[in-house]
Amino acid sequence: MATVSKTSDFMAMKSAGYYSKATIGAKHVMDNAASMVLDALERMAPKDDGNVFRATDMGAADGGTSIDLWRTVLGAVRKKVPSRPIEMIYTDLPRNDFSQVFQIVHGLTDVNSYLDEVSGVHVMASGTSFHDLIVPTGTLDLGFSATASHYIAANPCNITGHVHMVGASGKERAAYEAQGVADWETMLLRRAEELKQGGRLCLFNFGIDEEGRYLGNTGGQNMFDTFAELWGNLVDDGIITREEYLNTNFPQCYRTQEQFVAPLEDKSSAVSQAGLRLEHVESRVVRCPFEQDFTENHKDPVLFSQELIPTMRSWSEPTFVNGLSSERSAEERNQIIDTFYGLYQERVAAAPQGHAMDYVHVYLICRKDA
Ligand SMILES: C[S@@+](CC[C@H](N)C(=O)[O-])C[C@H]1O[C@@H](n2cnc3c(N)ncnc32)[C@H](O)[C@@H]1O
Repeated sequence: MATVSKTSDFMAMKSAGYYSKATIGAKHVMDNAASMVLDALERMAPKDDGNVFRATDMGAADGGTSIDLWRTVLGAVRKKVPSRPIEMIYTDLPRNDFSQVFQIVHGLTDVNSYLDEVSGVHVMASGTSFHDLIVPTGTLDLGFSATASHYIAANPCNITGHVHMVGASGKERAAYEAQGVADWETMLLRRAEELKQGGRLCLFNFGIDEEGRYLGNTGGQNMFDTFAELWGNLVDDGIITREEYLNTNFPQCYRTQEQFVAPLEDKSSAVSQAGLRLEHVESRVVRCPFEQDFTENHKDPVLFSQELIPTMRSWSEPTFVNGLSSERSAEERNQIIDTFYGLYQERVAAAPQGHAMDYVHVYLICRKDA
């Protein structure tokens, strides 16, 4: 039986601050590329006219990983347009831990917020999907999103013998890619509606680079293959059912650079007609900080395994939980999930070579024209 749940029905990063604590690599991705947003702001040259300057951080999770990027970017906005109030809107799906967003941004955690440093910033949040209109038409100055657009609105089908579209083939792979094309177009069209003329859209997207690399697949062990294998072993061991395995599918599509730019380069596409123009595109690999620390510093495989698995767990857990039968108790589900990640951890501790979660992104900057 196919999983019919929409992504928004179950998706949320691990809450209570776990996400940003465990996911330092995603922070590096943003910190390393903050200059792309600053350059976009420079080109935008916003007028100091006293009107609200509105920015969104779409798919922000708990807001911790982007805090330093926004310190830099909002600081630059403040200098450029001292008379304009800044509206900073954190967005994610409704199940996101928005309380944690406010605690982080308002300085109630050990994360160093920018709020005391940049004057006139009004922080808000929205639980509207980035596949919908988040802010009113023509009111957005700067749209931003990191490591989120690979989430598709729903799984088009179950994947036979794997848990992610990177391991799918034939019609199943084609169905995920088609969903990826449709959702990407929707995401861009909604932003084209939201942006003011001259506004900028900065998207740091998980994707597949020119060398075929993607998250957790940069030359060593393939993370998604390992997920699929260990989840399959639980079927063989009678811990989960075959149906539960089949119902476990990441609601994600990793797109190539070609797929990302297609609607922006095709002058006749709905996206181009809506006024969105590509200003910059590039791909980058950001090294897994835990693998780097292991290889270059501590060289302790157990410590490495204890750091690597939580960073994978911070974003992958809801997909595995969602695959399990709803007839299981919460306790039973938790036990299965702990067993699963425990097996991954044991594998890394026993033979750490080649395990890593390197980040592979395609970065796009767009301008809204008339
Ligand atoms: C891997 S996290 C990235 C968080 C943060 N931007 C970062 O880079 O560290 C992806 C986030 O996107 C959110 N997300 C997925 N689909 C979404 C959608 N349609 N609209 C808004 N947020 C979405 C998830 O709930 C999750 O919080």
